[in-house]
Amino acid sequence: MTPHDAALRARFCEAEQGHVFRFFDDLSADQQATLLAQLRSIDLALVKRLIETHLAADKPPHVPLLAPGQVIPLAADDAARADERESRRIGEEALRAGRVAVLIVAGGQATRLGYDAPKGTFPIAPISGKSLFQLHAEKLCALGRRYGKALPLLLLVSPDNHAPTRRFFEQHGWFGLAPSDVHFIEQGMLPALDRDGRLLLAERGRIFLSPDGHGGVYRALAASGLLEKLKKRGVDTLFYFQVDNPLVKVADPIFLGHHLRQQSEFSLKVVAKRDAGEKVGVFAQVDGRPGIVEYSDLPEALREARDGSGRLLYGAGSIAIHAFSLDFFARLGKGTLDLPHHLARKKVPFVDDTGDVVTPSEPNGMKFESFVFDGLALARKTVAMEVARSEEFAPVKNKSGEDSPETSRAAQSALFRTWIAAAGLPVPPPEGAVEIGPLLALDAEELRARVGGATPGGPLRVLLDGA
Ligand code: UTP
Repeated sequence: MTPHDAALRARFCEAEQGHVFRFFDDLSADQQATLLAQLRSIDLALVKRLIETHLAADKPPHVPLLAPGQVIPLAADDAARADERESRRIGEEALRAGRVAVLIVAGGQATRLGYDAPKGTFPIAPISGKSLFQLHAEKLCALGRRYGKALPLLLLVSPDNHAPTRRFFEQHGWFGLAPSDVHFIEQGMLPALDRDGRLLLAERGRIFLSPDGHGGVYRALAASGLLEKLKKRGVDTLFYFQVDNPLVKVADPIFLGHHLRQQSEFSLKVVAKRDAGEKVGVFAQVDGRPGIVEYSDLPEALREARDGSGRLLYGAGSIAIHAFSLDFFARLGKGTLDLPHHLARKKVPFVDDTGDVVTPSEPNGMKFESFVFDGLALARKTVAMEVARSEEFAPVKNKSGEDSPETSRAAQSALFRTWIAAAGLPVPPPEGAVEIGPLLALDAEELRARVGGATPGGPLRVLLDGA
């Protein structure tokens, strides 16, 4: 062991984490090097803070003061529609000027889906079976064509799924995007702790680490050096979404327009909660600042509370679609403004004192993640805009049931059916799958402009991709 490594070991012992060296002497040189590299990446000061915050039970939990958040409602009258047109004009102007880049967070582990590859590679289009990545990339191609300016694509990946994600893009010819416009940003990893606050070993020579949450994007993007490059290119706005929503209206100009007109730093789209019991985070004022209140943190009385017209007072469900100013990202990414780390208790297989791997039947480990939306409280200006769930949100989270591939495909088919009806084409029966590729049309208006009035000669599948 070099003096440098001995000092590292001493630091872990001092932090009462010396057990991670328990099997060190039995490891091969390669294994030792891997373990040491992992240990060097662990921020012991952060681990100490996590233990103090989440294990010290003496502090009563903070109960925040809540108030409903202010939301731009769906346009329901002429004035609102005129305002929306103005926002669209501003948003489109920004897209034509090349001021917008797209940021997709895709570093998650797809545990609930039980999918053993990057979630973006999951086949989701109802007929063609195109992957999430392909649908998103084709939307970018179509936008580039529409506005005459390519949109840079930033993909947040984890050290675990970086290589397979890049390979997927390479193997598919980058889905028509210029490779130089696609940027992979690697997020950080965090260790899990056992009930006593000790780091868990996944193997004798390997610490259990998992991605640090989508909130890790602030630091990862700042550290990548890309922010400066984007700025030089004239980009000042990021359109953000999660990889698992095939219905996202990428770079929606109306949303971008609202964001830019109000000089917002962090804007978000919300949908009306289906009912008081829907387990989704809601946009609200939290201790006087904008924030997202998780379902479990919303007191039952507030969950059910309604305004004079019967709408839920806390009914603005966040769908994790955002617009950011680049400057806000740069400010947060500096790391001076640390986001909170949220705790999740999980079953984490670990190596016990004898060196055997134990697969627990009950949650034994604490995993930590930071969340993008915690940045809301730090924004100088925010804008929240309501949108229709059926048009913009059909995430793939679970293997079956709610928010599963089945519900997502059905939601896509249902939306495309409305586009076909709006274009004056014969509407396929409700039970069949329907698909309109992004390269044919990005929305109902575009479909109408392209094929409206025409009677397709063959089955509606010919609409796919405009082939
Ligand atoms: P989710 O937690 O909903 O999805 O993250 P997941 O991580 O893919 O699935 P589970 O929780 O393991 O079942 C929402 C979005 O944030 C990204 C995910 O890729 C997804 O797009 N994410 C999540 C990251 O980019 N990094 C993370 O550390 C966590």
